[in-house]
Amino acid sequence: MRGRPSRSHELPATTGRELAARVLFRVLDEDAWASPTLDAELSRAHLSPSENGRATDLVYGVLRVLPALEDAIDAHRPRRDPLEPFTLACMLCASYELLHTAEKPWAILDETVGLIRRMRAEGLSRFANAVLRKIAAARPEAPMRASRLVLPRWLEEHLALDLGAERARSFAGDRPVPPPITLRSRRERDAILTAIREARPDATLTLGALSEHAILTRGVGDPRRLPGFDRGDFVVMDEASQLVAEAVGAKSGERVLDACAGRGGKTLAMLDAMGAGGELVACDDHPEKLARMDDELRRLGHAPSKVARHAVDLSVGLGKLAVDSFDRVLVDAPCTGLGTVHRRPEILLRVGPEDVPRMQELQEQILARAAELVRPDGLLVYAVCSPTRAEGIGVVQALLSRGSFGRHARSFELLREPVGPIAPDDDGMIRLGPWCDPSASCDAFQIARLRRRR
Ligand SMILES: C[S@@+](CC[C@H](N)C(=O)[O-])C[C@H]1O[C@@H](n2cnc3c(N)ncnc32)[C@H](O)[C@@H]1O
Repeated sequence: MRGRPSRSHELPATTGRELAARVLFRVLDEDAWASPTLDAELSRAHLSPSENGRATDLVYGVLRVLPALEDAIDAHRPRRDPLEPFTLACMLCASYELLHTAEKPWAILDETVGLIRRMRAEGLSRFANAVLRKIAAARPEAPMRASRLVLPRWLEEHLALDLGAERARSFAGDRPVPPPITLRSRRERDAILTAIREARPDATLTLGALSEHAILTRGVGDPRRLPGFDRGDFVVMDEASQLVAEAVGAKSGERVLDACAGRGGKTLAMLDAMGAGGELVACDDHPEKLARMDDELRRLGHAPSKVARHAVDLSVGLGKLAVDSFDRVLVDAPCTGLGTVHRRPEILLRVGPEDVPRMQELQEQILARAAELVRPDGLLVYAVCSPTRAEGIGVVQALLSRGSFGRHARSFELLREPVGPIAPDDDGMIRLGPWCDPSASCDAFQIARLRRRR
């Protein structure tokens, strides 16, 4: 059942709870992404910092443990017919607060019931009141903060097989909530850290342990307002992505291709590594994403022409790209995105077991095409932000077992060298994740570095 548009939704939210319920309503009912939806609501509501914090905690908290909250609500209602979506969003927030925070139950119930009455209907508010009272009665004495993810059964099984028990536990385990905003420093890291510390004395800043450019920040607010942002001193980029760009090892004077460049997060990191010389080309099958690189290029002090861009669907062909012409090619492939669920828990609502083989097939096609573009002795780097073996070593083995590509015989060997401080596993894959990061905030990525034989 879709929610009726309500006039009240046009006005900014007046409390953190209301704001969180609106965001969750859009995520659950309209497939919106949590982060941009939350940012948009926060910036038009102008709430106090503590209400902003409450809204953020609620949105991410609810999404992290959603299946358990749905079970709690279902256990206390007689019928299983779909709930009106905004009412459900309000009830999920309230259940989360009752089960996982020390907030006073009467305050949670009062506000939630009033909100449903105001935004929807008296009958729905009475229904919510009855269910929430029962959840409140069963509330644990000392509610525990929910920093562990509640994963669907199919994914738990996949992870146990693909990562082994220890890494699977680490993947879903206690991780910092909310995750830090990570910066990639483009100038001396300590100087950038000092400048931010002076401007935000209450923030927590730590140096990343995996990339020598990474700074992990908490409580800095909008990173676009930090000193040095306008000068291009840093870029917002998670640490695993920084390592992917570093794995390419792009150098001045080389021809480098970012084959699935999107909006260019890794393209720009490679451009920094290349300095003034060389030629950097970015491709994607979505030209509008490539176009969005312009503003960021300018902020970082580059002319937009610094990165040549081509719209190409690599599952179909090579477009204008010439075979054997690049020293290095990065394939940051489209994937299930399951490695980023800690940061984007709504992925769990959208990805099912059938998506893993579907993405693997697409990844194999794209990697095989991209391999045609690497010159003899050149480097092909394959990366995905997913921990599944199918999307990682499965795709790489499909490439290694192919005798030839296009008209020419080409073969690759999987390099077994570390990327930053992380050594590959026995099968040659670099597997990044919270298990290799002292701050436990690293997304789960896989990287393979393949050298084309002469
Ligand atoms: C993981 S994202 C890349 C993120 C990007 N490298 C970054 O760092 O911001 C994968 C990209 O592959 C693109 N893509 C999907 N299918 C493609 C295809 N058949 N050919 C080329 N690009 C494709 C998507 O549009 C998406 O931007």
